[in-house]
Amino acid sequence: MEPFSKGKFSGKRVVITGGSSGIGLATAKLLVDEGASVLITGRTQATLDAAREQLGNNAVAVLSDAASLTGIDELADRVKAEFGTIDALFVNAGITRYVPFESMSEEVYDELLTINAKGPYFTVQKLAPLLNAGSGVVLTTSITNVLGIPMISAYAASKAALRSMTRSLARELLPRKIRVNAVSPGPIDTDILERSMPKEAAEQTGAQIRQQIPMLRFGDPVEVAKAVAFLAFEATYTTGAEFPVDGGGSQI
Ligand SMILES: NC(=O)c1ccc[n+]([C@@H]2O[C@H](COP(=O)([O-])OP(=O)(O)OC[C@H]3O[C@@H](n4cnc5c(N)ncnc54)[C@H](OP(=O)(O)O)[C@@H]3O)[C@@H](O)[C@H]2O)c1
Repeated sequence: MEPFSKGKFSGKRVVITGGSSGIGLATAKLLVDEGASVLITGRTQATLDAAREQLGNNAVAVLSDAASLTGIDELADRVKAEFGTIDALFVNAGITRYVPFESMSEEVYDELLTINAKGPYFTVQKLAPLLNAGSGVVLTTSITNVLGIPMISAYAASKAALRSMTRSLARELLPRKIRVNAVSPGPIDTDILERSMPKEAAEQTGAQIRQQIPMLRFGDPVEVAKAVAFLAFEATYTTGAEFPVDGGGSQI
């Protein structure tokens, strides 16, 4: 993919849920660097403040829980107040929990499905009225929705639900000239393992994952950000699709 020219997204207004770290923050940075204004969300004020600092004046950081329907309603009000209408929506907030199937609890199952599938569904529903004709919605799915990987069965199911929603919402928003696509990351270096398990286990799991990916490495969040920008703004003849950014992990 060619690097984007300076100011390519000037004047564009973009909402990114889960924009305070990892893939969401890398996408916010890429878009701001190219002239867009972004509104990012997250659940942790300190992380949001740091991201806002890093992004500069073309970014607004809003504390908002993707698991709360009231929170999503309030987010829609805030977006309307800040931007009026928007040109792209990146529904990226999500969590991972590594739990063997045998010991999965109802609580963790519900947490995963609520944040990763229900929240995104209602985020699109509540923000759709603010999307301009010609705009793009991008949902973050995962390579896991087409693979059988141990320890993440409920997470994988939540992302498979999101992949399905991508098709249905693309169909329903088509009359308004809004495209809906998904970006499907493989393992991306966002410290997700380090934050999910003890250091030694994270190193061991990381090495195992690298061996299973044809490119034998983790992806960089920027590599996903480029795909998101493409799907949101440039893929004007593409809707209902899922674009893998996974070092070949789901494809070869
Ligand atoms: N990294 C990978 O290897 C990988 C692979 C495939 C798919 N993905 C997906 O990519 C997306 C981003 O993940 P990442 O790796 O960049 O992880 P990350 O660095 O942990 O970022 C997750 C973002 O989502 C936010 N978030 C989590 N729960 C939220 C909630 N209930 N309401 C609002 N915001 C919430 C986080 O904010 P707080 O920190 O404040 O909670 C953070 O901004 C997720 O959907 C993940 O499932 C990641």
